[in-house]
Amino acid sequence: MTQKTMPLPFNPRSAEFRANPYPTYHYLRTHDPLHYRPERKDWVLTRYADIIEVLNNRHFGRSESEQEKQETVVANQAPINRLLSVRDESQRLMKLWLLLRNPPDHTRLRRILRNHFTQARIQALQTHIQAKANTLIEQIKEQSKMDIINDFAYPLTLDLNCNIFLGIPPQEWHPSFKQWTKNLSLVTDLDITPMANEQGLLAIAGLAEYFRNRIVKCRNDSELQDNLISTFIKAEIGDQLSEDELVANCILMFFAGHVTTSHLIGISILTLLNHPEQLQLLQADSTLIEMTISEVLRYDSPAQTMSRIALSDISLSNQTICKGETINCIIGAANRDPAQFPDPDKFDIRREPNLHLSFGQGIHICIGRHLAKLVAEIAVSTLVHRLPSLSLTTDALEWEDSFIGHGLKSLPVAF
Ligand code: HEM
Repeated sequence: MTQKTMPLPFNPRSAEFRANPYPTYHYLRTHDPLHYRPERKDWVLTRYADIIEVLNNRHFGRSESEQEKQETVVANQAPINRLLSVRDESQRLMKLWLLLRNPPDHTRLRRILRNHFTQARIQALQTHIQAKANTLIEQIKEQSKMDIINDFAYPLTLDLNCNIFLGIPPQEWHPSFKQWTKNLSLVTDLDITPMANEQGLLAIAGLAEYFRNRIVKCRNDSELQDNLISTFIKAEIGDQLSEDELVANCILMFFAGHVTTSHLIGISILTLLNHPEQLQLLQADSTLIEMTISEVLRYDSPAQTMSRIALSDISLSNQTICKGETINCIIGAANRDPAQFPDPDKFDIRREPNLHLSFGQGIHICIGRHLAKLVAEIAVSTLVHRLPSLSLTTDALEWEDSFIGHGLKSLPVAF
């Protein structure tokens, strides 16, 4: 039953709202599916069908037109001091991320990456991922307790992303990787605070310096390796991308993959522990793991929103979205839309069909989705089968400060 008043205001900065946004989503979807926020001059969209329409409409883009972007860059290029210049540089790099480009630049950059993300290539990583998951469990098994996020999910996904995909061996990881990642998840968030914005821009500056050095080192290697950085360098040599695009997209690829997947593993274990009958089903039939991960993605998505900007005035649900206005497409709300998913608040690992939107839709659909699913499937399956008596050791769980990147700070369990 949907409430007549909004249970909690839609406020991505409120920890209470982030911990359980679903009653508010239900309210908005029923009473105000295209919700306008006058203080932000943007829109919040909560119905599955409307979100699909926006994501597949070429009149909505990820950024404003190239011309407007150039004007902003020029306007920002008058640094008052070093801090301002670092800030400008970081903002400029961020605008070059594949994720924030419109065609044709988006198409050009995505083409460079796609060979790294084919199903066959991802499947070939299975043995490595399983071996790493086993090693991590061996290291902590004797202790009879662990933090699923910090002892298992984060090290597993960081290893895969940095070591295997980017080709950076652990001894060359920067000590600030974790902090930079946290700060970056905030700079890309909805309704960010000025402080979070500054911290995020400094994180981009730190990563830019790190990757510029790394790129020089890769160029000096006798031959380029088979990893993402080398693929970008080859494309730059072939004039398919600029040096700044190279650095910017190394930063994006560093950050886009590992935290979201680590969050997915944490949310999966938490959700299964909160639904013991579903956990038992999975433990009795390990072939259900693929459907389990899909259902976790639908039920409590690690990515709660995606934004789009109107590239011209557009009519949507009898409203006019003016050119330049932002629409926030709330994935978490679409995934619980009863018009798309019967009994949407029920966690059911045998749900079929399950066309959730947690990896997006349209031209920006997550390029790493097959990898994310495989890692989560191996990680969760290994945990629930090797440690069958897993149980939570606290009721006071803390969620990350980011709304878009929904995940737990830690998940302490005993076994
Ligand atoms: C559970 C894990 C993940 C989730 C929930 C997730 C979610 C998403 C979503 C919703 C988008 C679309 C954003 C939009 O349309 O505005 C996206 C795009 C993207 N994702 Fe993921 N992602 C995950 C894992 C990964 C991994 C493992 C990688 C890479 C190793 C990755 C790389 C990217 C990139 C590069 C884009 C931009 C694609 C484009 O703009 O064409 N993601 N992701």
